[in-house]
Amino acid sequence: QDHLVEGLPLKGKKVLITAGPTHEAIDPVRFLGNRSSGTMGFELAKKAADLGAEVILVSGPTGLSIQHTSIKLVRVTSAQEMYNECHAHYPTTDIAICAAAVADYRPKQVAKEKIKKEDGGLTIALERNPDILLSLGESKAHQFLVGFALETQNELENAKGKLQRKNLDGIVLNSLKDDGAGFGSATNKITFIDKNLQIKTFGLKTKPEVASDIWEEIIARIHA
Ligand code: CTP
Ligand code: CA
Repeated sequence: QDHLVEGLPLKGKKVLITAGPTHEAIDPVRFLGNRSSGTMGFELAKKAADLGAEVILVSGPTGLSIQHTSIKLVRVTSAQEMYNECHAHYPTTDIAICAAAVADYRPKQVAKEKIKKEDGGLTIALERNPDILLSLGESKAHQFLVGFALETQNELENAKGKLQRKNLDGIVLNSLKDDGAGFGSATNKITFIDKNLQIKTFGLKTKPEVASDIWEEIIARIHA
């Protein structure tokens, strides 16, 4: 990718990236979450900055940090907070990539006090969170919009469905079929699908390598 770095193909572009999980409060000390490490989103941000972009990285709770003069890291906790930050920056964004593992549901009520245990079970009622990517697709103007799809069955079918339903320009299918791919792993196996349903499958690679591949696919299409 040296020719890309040399030409700084993302110079002058504003890039918005979501990363990490979201935490949905149950009470003051407990939350609903998932095992996303945030690594893929952070690697995408780093790569974009190295390619010349100004990056807003909106991240849920992770153990990661990042130091780069062209990356503004905005830390959020819940899906609603992530939604608000994304929409605040979206109008001036050129390219948006939603790599966050957003919780689909949140507790309907957040208990004001720590929930005390009682005999028997506990049922927590949940309600839907907003779909951030879907909402960005609905308000899309000039932006190039990319999502991720994490599937365990009917992978291509489901990913294509998300691409079309969410009005995306591209989607990255994360294959969990191979050992060593996905959450908590240092490596990923992806397939990139664009809005013309052109499909490109990659081998098992490290997450920095995957970030380069994704940016190469995007750059080829914004400059086409
Ligand atoms: N996404 C989002 N906001 C949500 C849920 C998902 O922005 N509330 C984004 C993710 O960041 C990802 C894409 O939507 O880029 C797909 O997420 P995924 O969980 O695979 O799909 P869902 O649309 O949530 O559908 P399901 O979980 O039922 O498969
Ligand atoms: Ca989901």
